Amino acid sequence: MVKKIGILTSGGDCGGLNAVVRAATLRAINEYQWKVFGIRDGTLGLLKNPLDVLELTNKHFDGNLMRMGGTFLGTNNKGNASEQKVLEGFKKLELDALIGIGGDGSMKILQKLTKKGGINFVGIPKTIDNDVKDNDLSIGYDTAVDVATNALDMLQPTAASHRRAMILEVMGRDAGHIALNSGIAGGADVILIPEIPYSLKKIADHIDNIRTQGRNHALIVVAEAVKKEDGSKATVKFVDGQVRLGGIGTYLGDEIYKLTDAETRVTVLGHVQRGAQPTHRDRLIASAFGVYAVDLIAKEKFNRIVVWKNRGVTDIDLDSIAGQSKTINVSDPLIKVAQGLGIYVGEI
Ligand code: F6P
Repeated sequence: MVKKIGILTSGGDCGGLNAVVRAATLRAINEYQWKVFGIRDGTLGLLKNPLDVLELTNKHFDGNLMRMGGTFLGTNNKGNASEQKVLEGFKKLELDALIGIGGDGSMKILQKLTKKGGINFVGIPKTIDNDVKDNDLSIGYDTAVDVATNALDMLQPTAASHRRAMILEVMGRDAGHIALNSGIAGGADVILIPEIPYSLKKIADHIDNIRTQGRNHALIVVAEAVKKEDGSKATVKFVDGQVRLGGIGTYLGDEIYKLTDAETRVTVLGHVQRGAQPTHRDRLIASAFGVYAVDLIAKEKFNRIVVWKNRGVTDIDLDSIAGQSKTINVSDPLIKVAQGLGIYVGEI
């Protein structure tokens, strides 16, 4: 029987989204001869009249799309769509199943919605934060770490030229995965993550030591959700009234400047971590996830999320990870690697 499946990208964009939509579409059409509908702008496409959906065919994937950042379907990370209207939209589409590509937040919303509407659902994890529970790698994370590592590569020469301490503020919400991984790969001297408290005095001593030992500059990576030393959050109020994470880099820059004689400068990396061309690893995971998700639908296995485990793709029950996230444990082997390299990672 010809099935009709829907696919949407939800939450913040990242590298690899076009590759996963491509993989799922190719598998559904070429292996099963199903019809695939791409829903625009997360669930917002379902609120439009007529519905803002696009029947995807092989011709949409002319070879270029999988190489590009962003999502050609569009996405939305506000979670403000009316539940009732979205469910009406799904009903009009008459789908046999839906593939939702999202992070932990949007996955929770989609799962609740699809359960309520009796829609067969399969989730695919994507988020540069890499904080989806029981999943080693989310689509977009590798690209973000690569961008942050490249930024450190570019900050090091200018840091050395001016004898400065350079601070790089990276994204990741409450998880320090981007900071820890890029910090190690990019030769940082200090890595601060939300999961581990730190001492400004110890950072200052560490930088002074580096200088005493003969290196004139230092690199510091800080995750956006790291708190100030007094435990308060660094946030910025936007004109839309929303309070978002931001400013911890500037805070650290000022404090380190006061405590050492190192001149500091701050780079806030921001959304370049999301919009970059996907790395080969993100394209690979995206391709594996897309094919696997369609095969799950063929086997009528629903309310599942596709995950990357032990260097391969598998699936787990969506309920088993609902409302939970994956942050860094102090016993993470990479913390030991960082310490082994002499990197200050906080007060453990
Ligand atoms: O969750 C992904 C993420 O990029 C976070 O790392 C970051 O805090 C947030 O989204 C930024 O969201 P926005 O696109 O609304 O600025």
